[in-house]
Amino acid sequence: ALVSMRELLDHAAVNGYGIPAFNVNNLEQVQAVMSAAEEVGAPVILQASAGARKYAGEPFIKHLIQAAIETWPHIPLVMHQDHGQSPEICQGAINLGFSSVMMDGSLQADGKTIASFEYNVEVTRKVAEMAHRVGVTVEGELGCLGSLETMKGDKEDGHGTDATMTMEQLLTDPEQAAEFVQRTQIDALAIAIGTSHGAYKFTRKPTGDILAISRIKEIHRRIPNTHLVMHGSSSVPQEFLATIREHGGAMKETYGVPVEEIQEAIKYGVRKINIDTDVRLAMTAAIRKYFTENPDKFDPRDYLKPAREAAKQLCKQRFLQFGCEGQA
Ligand code: G3H
Ligand code: 13P
Ligand code: NA
Ligand code: ZN
Repeated sequence: ALVSMRELLDHAAVNGYGIPAFNVNNLEQVQAVMSAAEEVGAPVILQASAGARKYAGEPFIKHLIQAAIETWPHIPLVMHQDHGQSPEICQGAINLGFSSVMMDGSLQADGKTIASFEYNVEVTRKVAEMAHRVGVTVEGELGCLGSLETMKGDKEDGHGTDATMTMEQLLTDPEQAAEFVQRTQIDALAIAIGTSHGAYKFTRKPTGDILAISRIKEIHRRIPNTHLVMHGSSSVPQEFLATIREHGGAMKETYGVPVEEIQEAIKYGVRKINIDTDVRLAMTAAIRKYFTENPDKFDPRDYLKPAREAAKQLCKQRFLQFGCEGQA
């Protein structure tokens, strides 16, 4: 059944676990997340980005998620809009039936330029006001997602940060976070701790200087009652990269966010963990392997089946690692 995200995150906080929020764009990804959740008894957050709504079309996104609710009525499910760029986009998602929206006011409406703190407060407060009137949960974002290693910000999605910015300026400031939550009345806060979207996060296994888990502890100490959200949380498993390379893919050396670091973050208020890239890698590895082993096959069902299965196994693993087993 469709539930509010606030309800799920409150339950996760009381019981000390985190919920992976998987991005979905198509039938196979929705089925993968749902069947994994079914097997382990986990609650579900399905999130759709602006890109997903554009790829599938709004009616398909809406009805794919509707179909999941109909097929698995006993699984509590949140339909969340990922990275809404304006109050208008958030309103559109609410009209479409989303039970949770992210207003990402850390960037201006172009999705590229870093916004001022006052702009962020203004648009996020506006969304919280309208969303809360109809029981919809709101996630805001404060700080700049992006690599502390290169100081150049997101390489894949164009959220480029100024090369002159320092690590301190990219990370979420605990004091500012407290003011932001108080002034906007959001339910959950996405924080910047050195992660970035996509497969190319770190050029080495991250250590505390480039992945600031310690910052989460400081933020949590300051706003213990606010649910924290980690974006760019794919772990980029080396075995997926190896399989992709073995079967004709060209992926450079890269490292993601280690699962142990996410598990540590869950001890300090992180309740929602956004994952997209790992699902993409799992499906691509499975399809590439299938094609080299079965060069004669051409029915999409033949190769989408192992891809869906690989995505399901990844989702199941994350549900278990983040403590979701039996929490639904
Ligand atoms: O925010 C980033 C998510 O991975 C969504 O990616 O915009 O390509 O759908 P997308
Ligand atoms: P990844 O690219 O690390 O999977 O992050 C996804 C995300 O943060 C979506 O909002
Ligand atoms: Na989000
Ligand atoms: Zn994100």
